[in-house]
Amino acid sequence: MLTEAEIRAHDDQRTLGPEGEAELQKLLARSLPESGRLLDAGGGSGALVHVLRRLGARVIVCDLDASMLRAAARRAPGTALVQADLTAPPVRDDCVDGVHLSDVLHLVPDWRGALTELARVLWPAGALLVKIGGGASGLAEELSSAAYERSPLPVRRNDLTAPEQLDPVLAALGLHLREECTLTTVRHATLRQLTDRLANNPFHLPGTASQRRAAAEAALSSSD
Ligand SMILES: C[S@@+](CC[C@H](N)C(=O)[O-])C[C@H]1O[C@@H](n2cnc3c(N)ncnc32)[C@H](O)[C@@H]1O
Repeated sequence: MLTEAEIRAHDDQRTLGPEGEAELQKLLARSLPESGRLLDAGGGSGALVHVLRRLGARVIVCDLDASMLRAAARRAPGTALVQADLTAPPVRDDCVDGVHLSDVLHLVPDWRGALTELARVLWPAGALLVKIGGGASGLAEELSSAAYERSPLPVRRNDLTAPEQLDPVLAALGLHLREECTLTTVRHATLRQLTDRLANNPFHLPGTASQRRAAAEAALSSSD
């Protein structure tokens, strides 16, 4: 369960600006049938539901966290919400036209199991869109690594760090790469803002709010 402040911090870190959202919308339009059923797997607070809906898709958000789903209900009323682990979604075989998976897989310990389940629910000609997540770059990456080192708890991050790792897993599931693309992201922040975001966002640094704050502040004070 996340606090309102943690959910706000998470939402504040979504990095798709208008340009990135327009690119995502075009990608969805060429990958998915019109008016299909789209599973936003690990869709969280529904930050991208408005983009997914623009196509006319019926969106189902599936997420482990009830507080994120409550935020999704407020943000996108009328969206179907399912609270479940992606390794065991209560969804029938072959019943969605598309799966959208953005910034989630890096948090799932059994990410291969989650992909297996998502392939099961996807109908054979459907499309799976994956952004693996956790891939900060530059200063944000340096600061998070330094804070992770100072966190008293193990960092919540699995072994999935590069898109190429998906290839053999997807091929074994009978899924073939149709397209690889880069979306335009927005990452403007001062060092203080980056530190505050790191301290406030439980997905980037595990532990209590005060443990995250201490690790993030220690990382900030040691940066040059
Ligand atoms: C960084 S957020 C991304 C949310 C959303 N996809 C977006 O792009 O705004 C990661 C989400 O994955 C969810 N999550 C993590 N592990 C999960 C799992 N095993 N099953 C379902 N959801 C999971 C978290 O609860 C959280 O809402």
